[in-house]
Amino acid sequence: MAKEPVRVLVTGAAGQIGYALVPMIARGIMLGADQPVILHMLDIPPAAEALNGVKMELVDAAFPLLKGVVATTDVVEACTGVNVAVMVGGFPRKEGMERKDVMSKNASIYKSQASALELHAAQNCKVLVVANPANTNALILKEFAPSIPAKNITCLTRLDHNRALGQISERLNVQVSDVKNVIIWGNHSSTQYPDVNHATAVGKPVRELVKDDEWLNGEFITTVQQRGAAIIKARKLSSALSAASAACDHIRDWVLGTPEGTWVSMGVYSDGSYNVPAGVIYSFPVTCKNGEWTIVQGLAIDEFSRKKLDLTGAELTEEKELAYSCLS
Ligand code: NAD
Ligand code: LMR
Repeated sequence: MAKEPVRVLVTGAAGQIGYALVPMIARGIMLGADQPVILHMLDIPPAAEALNGVKMELVDAAFPLLKGVVATTDVVEACTGVNVAVMVGGFPRKEGMERKDVMSKNASIYKSQASALELHAAQNCKVLVVANPANTNALILKEFAPSIPAKNITCLTRLDHNRALGQISERLNVQVSDVKNVIIWGNHSSTQYPDVNHATAVGKPVRELVKDDEWLNGEFITTVQQRGAAIIKARKLSSALSAASAACDHIRDWVLGTPEGTWVSMGVYSDGSYNVPAGVIYSFPVTCKNGEWTIVQGLAIDEFSRKKLDLTGAELTEEKELAYSCLS
């Protein structure tokens, strides 16, 4: 028997990530090749015409799994009945704007969209925040949607995780699918810590294969940390296809489970595991089963890593305070 359609919200759907993401969802890349979907696309009034154009293209693409499209600038209509919410919409940093101004704009967007999701989304809706500052936007959403379980609100660090896999695969000249268990700790920002201490390639420890700790502790880390900026420099636009693909990976693994023996990185509400700050959205290694994530416990953290986990944790605490000061 055919499955019931799943309703997937994409905010900021007329933007560049949205344009790459909605066809992936409609093709079954996010939820599986046998899972029908109804897309809910939200954008703001100045983008309404472009949003309608995206809807027209979705119709023209005749995706067999796509059972309906809601394209709207009304946040309540967009959120009603959604089972998965991918929050890509946000206010970009413009010339001359201070960090606090960007935080202030986004904190108020995420506060109001939190209320709409809380009141109108389906029970047990899973939320993924992509828009920057992703961890802190997700935290605001969690704080202002108190009846949505904290475990249902996450942010995207899978792009950073995939970037780390890509760098190791290139360095070792192995298939990217043979590289496993890298970790992104902390914030989706340049303080994130891409950690290979537990990673393997073709079943062997990455450190043993690379045989170059100077590269692994230096250039590898900065390349992953700065990759978003490098893409902007090259494209004059921020990453879009890789971000959309990572958003699909994040939701697919969360809903359908991670393969045995493999973990992925997700920004989740911190319980203080690994002595990082509790009460912020922090990226951890997680495994997923039956639609729930669990932080991988018991990994050894050396002195070098400890400092990096603490540094990115301190930045998230500072962002949290800044976001709250903007809302008060
Ligand atoms: P974009 O500017 O092309 O698109 C953003 C869209 O959001 C626009 O269509 C805009 O009209 C819309 N929007 C603005 N305010 C909104 C609101 N209140 N409600 C609904 N929609 C709204 O940007 P993009 O390149 O698609 O990137 C989107 C976001 O994702 C940015 O914040 C970017 O920094 C972030 N990003 C995150 C990651 C990650 O790994 N977490 C990676 C890449 C980009
Ligand atoms: C990315 O990692 O590619 C983006 O978060 C960069 C950005 O600033 O939008």
